[in-house]
Amino acid sequence: MENIKEKDLARRGINELVAYVPGKPIEEVKREYGLTEIIKLASNENPLGTSPKAVAAMKQAIDDVYMYPEGSSMDLRQKVAAHFGIDDDMVIIGNGADNILLLIAQALVDEGDEVITGDPSFSVYESVTRIMGGNFIKVPLKDFTYDLPAIAERITDKTKLIFICNPNNPTGSMVTEEETARFMEIVPRDCVVAFDEAYAEYVQDQHYPDTMKYVHEKRNVILVRTFSKIFGLAGTRIGYAMGPKHLVDLLRKVTAAFAVNRVAQAGALAALEDREFIEKVLTVNEQGKQYLYQEFSKLGMPYTPTHTNFIFVNLGMDSQVVFKKLLAQGIVIRPGGMWNLPNYARITLGTLEQNEKLIAALKEIINK
Ligand SMILES: Cc1ncc(COP(=O)(O)O)c(C=O)c1O
Repeated sequence: MENIKEKDLARRGINELVAYVPGKPIEEVKREYGLTEIIKLASNENPLGTSPKAVAAMKQAIDDVYMYPEGSSMDLRQKVAAHFGIDDDMVIIGNGADNILLLIAQALVDEGDEVITGDPSFSVYESVTRIMGGNFIKVPLKDFTYDLPAIAERITDKTKLIFICNPNNPTGSMVTEEETARFMEIVPRDCVVAFDEAYAEYVQDQHYPDTMKYVHEKRNVILVRTFSKIFGLAGTRIGYAMGPKHLVDLLRKVTAAFAVNRVAQAGALAALEDREFIEKVLTVNEQGKQYLYQEFSKLGMPYTPTHTNFIFVNLGMDSQVVFKKLLAQGIVIRPGGMWNLPNYARITLGTLEQNEKLIAALKEIINK
């Protein structure tokens, strides 16, 4: 026993993993820079907060937290299922979409299986693949968008799973219905395609694919959604997946018994019904988008048109430097170094006031 090193204890693939490093806590930023207010535009949270109806429902649910939650989130599953016109056994609720992505890998990926995705894209695909000992294959984006033909070319008989982030985080771009249809014609039937649609509710483009069609065709697809973004419930950790029953049943086998807490379930149920809040979020998001497009253009900063609540912009200088200067002014953005695009930054669309403060701060940085 004496000579066993920590790394010898880990499962294969775990040693190469880098633990997730969360952003600096807001309280720490406040203390360090002597600030009272922070504008967080780094994690694509909802700048309008949470649906007031969801908040009221969660307050009520607090009284019952001495009891375990309903393990299968039945009420919420039924509501989601009704909304999409599918059976409730085609829905699974998880402890955030992150947790759903892990369930997908746990249920499907064996050691040596290939998992393909676009690059840059959402980092969790890599960690869940490596946790399961899968071979992770990254296919570069084309014009900041998932290159589905190039992904299709990389499929081999070892390919088990393909993650398509649509719209894509961090670039905000989307693949269309037509591109997806062509891709699905090529994908072998024994290969699972997980469409991560965390930002689907923000998409206004009519060419956005209706992936539910593949569920109805009983193709091996899983659609991943979250309550963290448009519904403003990131802090409660709740997301869901939909797919043909045979695949959702596999996810159910690996999920924890009481994965989703009572308060989150109550909040999500109420948030789904609050159309007024959703419309308000969409309006503010669209205004923010148009404002930032205009201001970035004036500043000569190229950006990728976005279908989400964030924007990927080329600041024309080291974004880590800009990040630090903005931080001193209480504005937090996500610099692009983690995606090997050091001049780029991913910036969440804030309220009009927050967006104006961001632009004023950027102008000051440039002029200095
Ligand atoms: C593309 C994508 N998928 C999944 C998630 C995770 O969402 P959740 O907060 O539900 O875990 C995020 C969060 O930022 C995301 O951007």
